[in-house]
Formats: sequence, structure tokens, C-alpha cells
Amino acid sequence: MAVLGRSSSSAAAVALVALALVSAVAGEVFFQEKFDDGWEDRWVKSEWKKEDGTAGEWNHTSGNWSGDAQDKGIQTSEDYRFYAISAQYPEFSNKDKTLVLQFSVKHEQNLDCGGGYVKLLGGDVDQKKFGGETPYSIMFGPDICGYTTKKVHAILTKYGKNNLIKKEVPCETDQLTHVYTLIIRPDATYSILIDNVEKQSGSVYDDWDILPAKKKRDPDAKKPEDWEDNEYIPDPEDKKPEGYDDIPKELTDPDATKPEDWDEEEDGEWTAPTIPNPEYKGPWTQKKIKNPNFKGKWKAPLIDNPEYKDDPYIYAFDSLKHIGIELWQVKSGTLFDNILITDDPEYAKKFAEETWGKHKDAEKAAFDEAEKKRLEEESAGSKDEDIDDEADEEEEDDDADFKAASSSAEETKDDSADEKPQTEEKVEEISKDASEKKDEL
Ligand SMILES: *[C@@H]1O[C@H](CO)[C@@H](O)[C@H](O)[C@H]1NC(C)=O
Ligand SMILES: *[C@@H]1O[C@H](CO)[C@@H](O)[C@H](O)[C@H]1NC(C)=O
Repeated sequence: MAVLGRSSSSAAAVALVALALVSAVAGEVFFQEKFDDGWEDRWVKSEWKKEDGTAGEWNHTSGNWSGDAQDKGIQTSEDYRFYAISAQYPEFSNKDKTLVLQFSVKHEQNLDCGGGYVKLLGGDVDQKKFGGETPYSIMFGPDICGYTTKKVHAILTKYGKNNLIKKEVPCETDQLTHVYTLIIRPDATYSILIDNVEKQSGSVYDDWDILPAKKKRDPDAKKPEDWEDNEYIPDPEDKKPEGYDDIPKELTDPDATKPEDWDEEEDGEWTAPTIPNPEYKGPWTQKKIKNPNFKGKWKAPLIDNPEYKDDPYIYAFDSLKHIGIELWQVKSGTLFDNILITDDPEYAKKFAEETWGKHKDAEKAAFDEAEKKRLEEESAGSKDEDIDDEADEEEEDDDADFKAASSSAEETKDDSADEKPQTEEKVEEISKDASEKKDEL
């Protein structure tokens, strides 16, 4: 196997690690990062957001709980901050190749709103300026916000447009490490795995609206004059009965008599009151019958869409040269580790097993221990006080925190803070457009 990138010494080190992990690898590793010592030489922290003081610091740590305290990653360490960092590898294209993008992420902060995704970018990136606006080729990984957004993003940027995957892929939401893997194959199929288990798969053609629709409705077609699109018509057999309109709505009450004391001079001429006529059935309406010539709703015939052009390289990117992490975090604590870009899914699987897989049980035990300690400390802290009151207060505090978080996100948001929702909106619009296009068909 060939390990590309790095200065020769670290490349050799990585090669050794890789060899130790898997003895026989058929494929190529384009990038592999375990965040061992020296990681800072390989990663460039962006200047993005530095000027307005909202750029967050990364902490090189294994976090508050882990399966191996020596196995460090990088963790967001400040609340209400933007994070942007990237690394470079020798430029390649995934044309006619399988592409595997894999990394692990742990949200120690019990993430309520924030991303845990990475981006692959092309050759044309100024790493010092890498930020929310920097165009990317692939964005992949979990995204959590409130109760509604708990999904794995898989965005493919093709023809200048960010295309979201159309299938729902739920992400993990606990505070433990999970491995996310995206595999895109040269037959334009893909798989998304979490912890080495396939969660979604299919065709890039079907599950992203990258290409225009193959067929479209002929815009020049006209509905034929004699096209019958009324499903029901009046029954010609049903005729208005003779004298139907002569039936009065009301009748003079036959039982009414002029009161004894009626004084025509004072009260005017007596007229009998009226009562509803039981024979009266309202205005006549003709019965309706099924139209024997009904042809259904007229639709213009489908024709080949002149804008459609098959792209056998729908899955491919000409230039992949950078990996970036770009996030906004209200609450920090997201830890990235074990990033891998390769063409070999088997190698990726083993790499996940040797890293996350090896430590996950110990990590769970460490987490349970930390939780136990936290809960004990919490209840010890509230013993002297009125427990009910404190719980109430805490709840209010949490609420206030949450509000402060949202409003401060608003405040910090200048021109570029806006761009994230905009990107999302744009992307949503695109996919809405696309689904409308489909509906029309
Ligand atoms: C880095 O992480 C460790 C472990 O979670 C923590 O103890 C330390 O306070 C963190 N440092 C910063 C600067 O956040
Ligand atoms: C890690 O532990 C420290 C010390 O208890 C705490 O201040 C910090 O918030 C914890 N980090 C996360 C992400 O929970």
C-alpha cells in the first residue's frame, strides 16, 4: 500500500501505524490522522472569526472520559464560538476509484444544537482563510439541533450546487464516540455507516438531485379541444318534472282563523300566517352521472429534457486536497479523532475496529463512572439547601442559559454568521425545487 502526504518522517510513522493495524492492504490511504503528537504541524488553524473574537480554541485531549487517556483527538473548548481548521494531503481525484471518508466524533457536552461534520475541499483553498463560505466538495457527518434535527449530513457539491442527500439518516445522539463512514463507489453507489454498521445505501443518481430530470413535460403541448376532464356530468335523462317551479315555498296556514277581536280599522287587513310547504324541495338540480368520455386530468406528454445530460462521473470530484472542520458551537465539547481518507473500505473497517472498537467498552465504563460522580456531586451540593427550590432554580437557569445562547448566537452573527442558515436555506430550496419538479411529473 502507499501512504501519501506528510513530511517523510511522519509519513513513515503513519505507514508503520497503518501496517501494524492491518497487515495486508490492497488500497491507498490518502490521509490518516490520529492526532498524535505533532498534529499541529499538519493542521492549519484558520484566521476566520479571529478579528471579532469569536474564533474558538481546540483542545488536544482525550476528553473527560475515554477508553484510553493517551489516545487524544481535538475538542472544541469554548462556548459560543466558530471553529475552522484544516489539513492538506496530496491532491487526488476519486474518478474510477472508491472513496472512503471516515472519522470519529464524541459530543461530551450532550450537544443540543451543533454540527459534528467534516468537509473535503479541492486544491484551491487558502487554509488561513478557511471558513463558512469556503466552497467544499463533500460535507459529511452528524448534525443535531433540538428535537427535530438529528441526522447525518451527506452533501455533494456538483455543478456549483450543494446537494443534500434525500434519504433520512439518523445520527447518534449520546455522549460517546461514534464512527461515521461515507463510501462512494465508481459505480455511483454509496453507503453510510455508523460504527461499522451500514445505515443507508443506494445510488448517487437516485438519492441526490444532482442532475436535471431525464424527462420533462412538453411545454408546447396543448390540451386537445375535445379532452374531457370532468369526471361527472349532468344526467341528460334527468328532466325537471312538469310544474316543479310552480310549487310554492310556503303555504297559507289553513288552520289559522282571524282572531275574534281583530279590528280592521286599527289593525289593518288580516292575513293568515304562512307555514313551510312540505311539497317544496328547493331549486331543481339535475342529477350527475359519471362522464363516459372522462379521460382523466390532462397532462402534457413527457419528452426528453434537453437540459439532461448523463454524467458517468456523477460521484467523482476532480480535485480533493484538503479536509476541514468548520463549525459553530453554542456549547463546546465535540471531539474529533481518527480521520481517514482511503479507497479501501476494508482498511477503513479495520481502522475503526482498532481505534474506536478497541476502546468503546472502556469508554462506556469511564462515562458511566463520570456520570455517577457528577450526579453524586450534584446531590451533595444540594443537600444543605431546600432541594426543591434548588431544582427549580436550576431549571430556570438552564432556560436562561438556553435563551442567552440563542440570543448571543443572534448577536455574534454578523455578515458571515448569517451564511450558515443561508447555505442551508439555499440547499433546502434546491431540494424543494427538485422535489417539486418530480411532483409535476
Ligand atoms: C482540555 O481538556 C481537558 C480534559 O477534558 C480539560 O481538563 C481541560 O480543562 C481542557 N482545557 C481547556 C483549555 O479547555
Ligand atoms: C469536563 O470536565 C470539566 C471539569 O469537571 C468541566 O468543567 C467541563 O465542562 C467538562 N467538559 C465537558 C465537555 O463536559
